[in-house]
Amino acid sequence: MTAETTLNIAVIGSGGREHALVWKLRQSAKAGRIYVLPGNGGTPGNMNVDAGDVEALERFCREKDISLIIVGPEIPLANGIVDAFNHSDIRVFGPDREAAKLESSKIRAKKFMKKYGVATAPFRAFSGEEDPSGYLDKANGNVVIKYDGLAAGKGVYVCSSVPEARSALRDIREKYGENAEYLIENKLRGEELSVIGVTDGKSINCFLPSQDHKAAYEGDRGPNTGGMGAYSPAPAATESVLNAIDETIILPTLNGIGKEGLRYRGVLYFGIMLTEEGPRLLEYNVRFGDPETEVILPALKSDLLEMILSVFDGTAGEKEAEFSDEYVADVVLTSGGYPGAYEKGKVISGLDKLSPGTLCFHAGTRREDGTLLTAGGRVLNIVCRHRDLRKAVENCYREIAKITFDNMAFRRDIAHRAFERRGGKR
Ligand code: AMP
Ligand code: GLY
Repeated sequence: MTAETTLNIAVIGSGGREHALVWKLRQSAKAGRIYVLPGNGGTPGNMNVDAGDVEALERFCREKDISLIIVGPEIPLANGIVDAFNHSDIRVFGPDREAAKLESSKIRAKKFMKKYGVATAPFRAFSGEEDPSGYLDKANGNVVIKYDGLAAGKGVYVCSSVPEARSALRDIREKYGENAEYLIENKLRGEELSVIGVTDGKSINCFLPSQDHKAAYEGDRGPNTGGMGAYSPAPAATESVLNAIDETIILPTLNGIGKEGLRYRGVLYFGIMLTEEGPRLLEYNVRFGDPETEVILPALKSDLLEMILSVFDGTAGEKEAEFSDEYVADVVLTSGGYPGAYEKGKVISGLDKLSPGTLCFHAGTRREDGTLLTAGGRVLNIVCRHRDLRKAVENCYREIAKITFDNMAFRRDIAHRAFERRGGKR
C-alpha cells in the first residue's frame, strides 16, 4: 500500500466508543496513521490537541497530513465543527450544526418527527411561563419531561404521577433557568433498541441493532448512566420489527432530511421503543452510541473506513454492510459511586491476563509512568464474542474476574432481556 492510497485520520473523543472506532479503523487497508484527540489510557496515537479550538485542530491536521476527522461525541458537532471546516479540503464525518439539532434540541427533533410522519410519542413543547397542568392531568402524570438542550442524559425525567412530574419541572427550572424550554410527551412502554447507521442524507447503511443498559443497577433500577453494558444483535429486532422501523421511522427521517435540505454526512442513531402499537422513535443521536459502538463494530465484517468514506461521495446506501454471525456482549466496569461522586486514580491490574479474543476498550483510564489508572466513571468495556449470546456474556464475566481496581462496580445482568425472551440463541 503506498502513501497515496492511505489516508491519515483524526478521531475526536476519549471514551470506549473512540477506542472501538480506532480498533476497527486500524483494520482498514486504507487507513494510514490514526491520531486520537485526546484519547485515553488504551488508545494508541493520543495527541493533546484541543478539538474545540478549530484553528489549532486545522494546524494539527495540516502538520500530520490528516484528510479525515471522525467526531465521536455530540458537543463538537452541536458547536459546528463540520461548518468550521466547510472551506477546507479536510473532510469531517458528521452532520453540520443545523442538522446536529436533531440531537441538540429535543423540541426541534420532535417537531421534525411530527412534520415528516416519523412514528413517535405525542408531545407538546413548553417554555418558562406556560402552564403544563392540563397536559399532566390528562396523562395522569404518566409523562416524560425532556429539557430541550444537551444535558448528557440528565435532562430526561420519566414520571408516573402528577407530583413527580411537578418535581421534575421544578428541577428543570432550577438547573436550566425559569425560562427553560422543555417538552412533555406521553410515556411509552416496551423494550428499547438502538439502530445506528452511516448516512449521506439520502440513504443509510445500518449496523446490526443493539440494546444498551442505561440504569446503574441490576434489574434496570437506579439512576441513568452513560451505559453499563450492551449487546448485539438484539433478538427483539426481528425481521418484521426491522421492516416496521424502516417504514415508519428511517425512511420518513431520510425524506425529512432531504426536504429540509439538511447537510448530513455522518452517523444517525435511532433510539427506539418497541411498543405494542409498533416501534416509536424516542430520540435521534447524531453520532455513534456509547457503549453500542463497542458491540456493533466487533461484529462488522465490512471495512468501516470505506463505509465512512461512502457518505462523502453519496454512495452510503449502495453496498450493504456485512456482519459476522456472532453475538457481541459488553460489560462496562465503573468506578464505585458512578453516576454519582466517585474517586479516580485507582491502579488497574489484570488486563495482561485476558484471554485471546477478548476485547478491552478503555474509557476513563490514563497512564502514569507505565501504570494504568482509573480516570472516569466508566472505566473499561470488556467485550466478548460468541455464536451463543449466553456464552458471550458468561465469557465477559469470566474475564472480569481477572481484573481489579479499588471500588470496581458493574452490572451482573447484561443482556437479561434477551434471555427472558428466548434463551438468546440465534
Ligand atoms: P432520550 O434521551 O430522549 O432517549 O431519553 C432517555 C431515556 O428516557 C430513554 O432511553 C428511555 O429510557 C426514556 N424515555 C424517553 N422517552 C420516553 C417515552 N416517551 N416513554 C418512556 N420512556 C422514555
Ligand atoms: N448509549 C446511549 C448513547 O450513546 O446515547
